[in-house]
Amino acid sequence: MNQEYMVRKLTGHDLNQLMVIENESFSMPWSRQSYENELKNQWAEYLVCDWGGELAAFGGMWTVYEESHITNLAVAKKYRGRGLGRILMQELEKLARAKRANRILLEVRPSNAPALDMYKKLGYIPISVRREYYEDNREDALVMIKHLI
Ligand SMILES: CC(C)(COP(=O)(O)OP(=O)(O)OC[C@H]1O[C@@H](n2cnc3c(N)ncnc32)[C@H](O)[C@@H]1OP(=O)(O)O)[C@@H](O)C(=O)NCCC(=O)NCCS
Repeated sequence: MNQEYMVRKLTGHDLNQLMVIENESFSMPWSRQSYENELKNQWAEYLVCDWGGELAAFGGMWTVYEESHITNLAVAKKYRGRGLGRILMQELEKLARAKRANRILLEVRPSNAPALDMYKKLGYIPISVRREYYEDNREDALVMIKHLI
């Protein structure tokens, strides 16, 4: 499958397709305006996985000094289970290292088994819980960290 996709930076031209993935992936989707703002945010980096001209996945993070924080990661439903989530996380980690971050943090719903399993396999460990973090069902968020050494 390595010839079929390309990882590159998000551009404004991707936002229509990104919003389709966003809306099918999250119960509290970000708005298009939020992503437009992210494209101008000096702390933010967003990558996409382009599959023959079609947007298959995207992910982003903020890096402020030594800490990176994953903001969003989503794979289009039809492209799930092909390794793209893992690939994007690994590419984001490379970017974080290049920016001299020494750790990456993220939040995940404890009920999100696919994401939780993926993050654990990638070396993220739970460090704390943010109580009732998700407004839609008041689910807690598990905060996970990976130290980059
Ligand atoms: C979580 C998500 C990004 C995973 O992306 P993906 O491309 O399907 O995942 P990959 O194919 O790269 O799989 C990586 C690992 O994730 C885990 N995983 C993926 N799908 C899974 C499933 N349905 N059930 C359990 N674990 C799963 C596995 O550990 C897998 O490793 P393996 O292939 O060795 O079994 C994707 O399911 C998604 O977009 N979900 C909706 C949005 C979301 O929850 N984002 C994360 C918010 S914190």
